[in-house]
This record gives sequence, structure tokens and C-alpha cells, in this order.
Amino acid sequence: MNFQSTKMLLRLSVSKKIALLLFVCASPLWIQAQVMTSPNKNLTFQFELTANGTPTYQLSFKGKPVVKTSTLGLEIKNAPSFMDGFSITNSAQKSVDDSWNPVMGEEKTIRNTYNELVVTLAQAKNNNRYIRIRFRLFNDGLGFRYEFPKQNDLNYFVIKEEHSEFQLAGDHKIFWIPGDYDTNEYAYTTSKISEIPSLMKKATIEINSQFPIKNLAVQTPSMMKSSDGLYINIHEAALINYPAMSLNLDATTFKMSSHLTPDAVGNKGYMQTDAQTPWRTIVVSDKATDILASKLILNLNEPTSYKDVSWIKPVKYIGIWWEYFVAGKSTWAYGKENNVKLDQDFTKLTPNGKHGATTEHAKEYIDFASANGFDAILIEGWNIGWEDWINNWKEEVFDFVTAYPDFDVKAVQAYAASKGVKIIMHHETSGAATNYERRLDRAFEFMNENGYDAVKTGYVGQIIPRGEHHDGQWMVNHYIHVANRAADYKIMINSHEAVRPTGLNRTYPNWIAQESARGTEFEAMGGLAPEHTTILPFTRLMGGPMDYTPGIFQTDLTYYKTGGNQRVNTTLVKQLAYYVTMYSPLQMAADLPENYNRFPDAFQFIKDVAVDWDNSYILEAEPGDYISIARKAKGKNEWFVGGITDENSRTATLTFDYLPKGKKFIATIYADAKDANWNEKPQNYTIRKVVVTSKSVLKQYIAPGGGVAISIKEGTASDMKGLGKL
Ligand code: NOJ
Ligand code: CA
Repeated sequence: MNFQSTKMLLRLSVSKKIALLLFVCASPLWIQAQVMTSPNKNLTFQFELTANGTPTYQLSFKGKPVVKTSTLGLEIKNAPSFMDGFSITNSAQKSVDDSWNPVMGEEKTIRNTYNELVVTLAQAKNNNRYIRIRFRLFNDGLGFRYEFPKQNDLNYFVIKEEHSEFQLAGDHKIFWIPGDYDTNEYAYTTSKISEIPSLMKKATIEINSQFPIKNLAVQTPSMMKSSDGLYINIHEAALINYPAMSLNLDATTFKMSSHLTPDAVGNKGYMQTDAQTPWRTIVVSDKATDILASKLILNLNEPTSYKDVSWIKPVKYIGIWWEYFVAGKSTWAYGKENNVKLDQDFTKLTPNGKHGATTEHAKEYIDFASANGFDAILIEGWNIGWEDWINNWKEEVFDFVTAYPDFDVKAVQAYAASKGVKIIMHHETSGAATNYERRLDRAFEFMNENGYDAVKTGYVGQIIPRGEHHDGQWMVNHYIHVANRAADYKIMINSHEAVRPTGLNRTYPNWIAQESARGTEFEAMGGLAPEHTTILPFTRLMGGPMDYTPGIFQTDLTYYKTGGNQRVNTTLVKQLAYYVTMYSPLQMAADLPENYNRFPDAFQFIKDVAVDWDNSYILEAEPGDYISIARKAKGKNEWFVGGITDENSRTATLTFDYLPKGKKFIATIYADAKDANWNEKPQNYTIRKVVVTSKSVLKQYIAPGGGVAISIKEGTASDMKGLGKL
């Protein structure tokens, strides 16, 4: 055990400690600091009560401060706060070193090793009412949460605010988006913490149904880099029955503090003992690659209770989708009208002539999916209601079971089944969670009856119940309810516009991906900065897989002659690299089939790439600049490498030491051409095949806004004949 304490810690069982607690009136048993180190000793953590009984903690990495002395506590509505007046009535510690296997993931086996300290804190002034704070110190960071055991003087209570502080050690570089109760779809700003006040207005660009926080606040996952070379990421894990946390900022003292999303009447969280908050997480290292490799957040989530997970599968899919954004030739809506009601006869609408989800069009996509080995196609706009779905704060927009007159659910399903392709259901709720909950079972039954096993949900617009926010406790519980209920029907969920993920895909493995950030759709709505995707894995993806929807080959969108003058700000090859750098067991090939047909040799990478992995190797990384990752396909001797850069060209140094020693493999390298970059000749690429071994090193040029993608396979001597070496 790596615990030290300046006082002897009692070695009693938990039950004896509780018994002891009941007898000990809150005298300061242990006021001295309690110190623990991480299993590898890189991290040192200290817990201490101040003279007035306020809990404090601090954290350092190899002697460098990560979080300087910071206070912990919560304010309760109409009741004394849990902020001070505490004494430690018990303290327990343990060490854990085990491992587990995710249903799908970046690693087949995840090691879970930490040292834990649980302090019981009682308030003598409040009849010895008590809480616990549980700290887990991993090799890659700290997690802590508040626990509220069942007790006489604490049953029901309402959280007014949580005051978990993170006193940072300096004016760090930070990759941030504005604090907001409703959306995560902001572009990232990179600045010093002290520069945030002057940049906030510009960063708070207009987004559908936004609700920017009035205080100076940023969202989590919050990624920082200190001037002494520490990478620090603050987020949360296991967000259940509690509102999402943003971080208030003091831009002169560099102190961050928790800011919970309120509900419609301004309260934060409704609690009933036994209860606990989500974990607050601080992932830290002096190597950026360690941040991307961290499994701390998943480790802090509970194992799934699902007995059968055999129906949860990785999915590579295409969709009737991108054409709604760029081609201008089709729409979600069927009718010309823009004032419809669910109970009207939709067969009487005047067709607008551009409806995308028709039976015929679906069959074309099914043919393409089947010919190219995709598991599924997403069909949006199949169901009635899209004529006036947005901006009306209307409750009954969709019923989730009635198709438009030109979309024959049974015929499409029969055709898809005959070709071995699944159809992904689409449930856009337009924010009306009430309507969705009322109709949920019927909607899932409809899916079961018609052979759908996955659904993309969406929460565009203001939430109903009116006054609730996307990130509040009510909605947090809604998303979990949907995932949990879907499991009863063996349905997988991909949620868009839901609260940012916190590793709950461990507990609810059928919640296989989320959007919850600015994704590819924004390339068609003003564009994404070339650095955006070098930041996302350090921020949004820390919480879980993202349905980023990569794979756009036709990056110049003026091609469609729909009036816009926009482009996808990447090279074609960078879009290939995303299948490796943006982890998700659900990956879309988002472009139109006709564009894939124009570049069949590059498309081969998307057809080949795996979406579920045995192992992942973070080769190079610097937030905002570049990322290179190699991964081994689940259960196969195949490896895939993705490397990306921001707006600057670079030479990636790619090692292959993860390959089995002493064996030769065939690597197919998809690279930007010398004259390519994100806004000129982005479709110029080269493809070459070489023989590689575990000793190979590739120095690969990557164009501005570009990437590199490599597939590595076994081969016979004759396959390798004539191929060059690195
Ligand atoms: C926003 C989602 O992110 C997008 O993928 C979807 O097509 C639209 N909402 C409509 O549901
Ligand atoms: Ca979205």
C-alpha cells in the first residue's frame, strides 16, 4: 500500500467504522494531512481539513503542482451547507489492481489500478450529519466524488451548487469552448487562461438552442498544458442522476470551480440518500500521448449489468444524410407545407419533389452498402413531421412510427435483409423529450417488428419540459432511461445533441456513440478549423466515442453548385485518417456513394478499416497540432494507422514496434500528394505498398490540413514480391 498518514489510520472493517462513527462525536480525530501516491508513484495526493473544517486537496505530478490546495464542498437548498465545520470521523484506504474487458473499445483488456482514500466527514454543528469523499488515485490521474450515505438527518435534499475547486498552478494554455447549458457544438479556442475574458464574446458564436453561462465558464473536458510541460484534463465520469458540470473560471488566480446546470426552477440536483455525485476527474501526464491513452474515466464507471451483450456490435455505415447538407437535391421533409400537425393526413401534403428518404433512394443506398461491405445505412427523413420540426418549441412534432407516403418501411426492410444490410432508425425528437418518452416503447416495438437494431436519436432545439436544459439532471436521466430501455429491446443508441459523454458506454454498452460536439455537419455550415480534430480527442472524446461522421472525399462543396462557397477544411487523406484518430465503434462513411465511386482506390481504406480494436498505440500527439495512432483490429492480424495535422504541414515519425517481431507485413500507405493541402488540390494523394516489420520507421510528409492512413496486413512471399521496404 502506498498510503502514508501522519497519524495511524484505523484498520477496521467498513461496518465497524460506521459503528464507530455513530459513537464518536465529531471530535477532530485526524486533522493532519493524509497523503497517498499513485501505484507508480508519479502522482502525489494530499487531503486535509482547514482549521474551520473545510475539506481541501492537492495533487502533484513528479513534484510539479497540478492542483494546488483547493476546497471541496456543496451548498444545499434550505439547509446547512456541506462546506465547513467538518471533522474526519473515519478514513479508509485500499489498493486495487484488476482488469476488465469492454464490450467494444480501443483495448480488449483495460487495466484498473489505483489507490483509494475514503474520508468520512461529520458536522458536529448539524447533529453529526455526514458525507464521504472518495478519492481514487490512478497512474494517470485522480477521480473524486461526494457520497451521501443514508442517515437520520439526511434523506431528501436539493443541491444549490457544488463547490469543487481546481486551483491551477499557472496561466496554462487551454483548449476551450464556452460554458453552455444546452450545446457543446462550439468551435475551440486556444489561449492562455488569462485571455479567456477578452475572447469569450467571439467564442460564443451563434448555435441552435444555445444557453451560454453568464459567469465566465468553460465546458469539460477541459484540456490544458502548463508552461512546465504538464498536460491536464478536467472532466467527470459516470454522470447519472445529476446535472452536468461546467467550470467557472477566475482568469487572474487561475482557479476553476464546478458550475452545475440548473433545472427549470433554478435548482441543480434532487437527491435522496443513498446517493453520490459523479466523479470529478483530473487526467495528468507530462506526455500528451498518455492523455489519449487514459482509461481513467471508463474505469470510474460501473460495469454493465446487462446479462447478454452479444447483440451489441460495432457498426460501419453510410446514410441518406450528407446530401441534406450539401447537395441541395433532397430534404428531410416530404411536403411543401410548413405548418403541419401530427394527426393530419400526411398523404394529402403537396410533395416538395425533393424528399430524400424514398423507397427507391433507400434501395440505391442498400445496394451500395451491400456491394462495399457496410453493416448498415442510416435513413433520416423517413417519418412524418419534418415540415416544421425546428424553432417552434413544439411538443408533438414526431410520432416515430409513421412513414411518409413515399417510404415503404416493410419493402425497404425486406430489400435490406435480402442484401444483408441493416437500416439504422432515426428518432429526431426536436428537443421534446416528453413526447419521446411517451412514445418510446411503441417506437422501440416498431423497430423490433421491422428489424431495426440501432437508432440515431437527436435533440435539436429547446428542451421540453420547457425550461429544462440538455445538460440538466432531468435530461441526464432521460438519455440514460432511453439507453436502458433500448437495451430491453436489444437496440443500440447513437445520440446527437445529448449531454457530453462521461464513460457511461461502459455501464450502458448499447449507448455506442454520441455526437455532443461540433462534427462534420459543420463543415457544410461554415467549416471547421483544420486543428479542430487535433483537439477533439483531447476534449470531447475523453468522455467516449464520437459519431463524427468522417469520410468526406468531395471536400470542395462549391462542386454541388448550391450557392454556398464552402469547403471541408481537410485533404481527402485526412478524412481517411479520422477512422483511426477519432475512436468510435460506430463509424460512418458520410459522403455520397457517387463520390466514393470516383475515388475507388482511396475508398478501399474505408472498406478495410476496423471499428473495434484489440489494442491501440498512441504514437505521437500534441493537442491543437497533430495526432498519430496505430490500432490492432479486434481478433485479426490487421493494423491501421491514422495521422493528422492542423493547418501546418509536418513529417510524422511512425514506428511499427507494436507488430509481432521477426515477421514481415504489407503496409498500404495513403498519403497526401506533395502539392495537396486542405484548400488546394485536397484530393491529390498517393497510395503505395511496402513491406514493414516491427523495426520499420516511416518518416511521412503530411500536407497542411492533411493526414496519412495506413493499413497493415499479413501476406505471402509472393504478395510481397517486388514491394519496396521503408
Ligand atoms: C443534427 C444532427 O447532428 C444531424 O446529424 C441530423 O441530421 C439533424 N440534427 C437532423 O436530425
Ligand atoms: Ca448536431
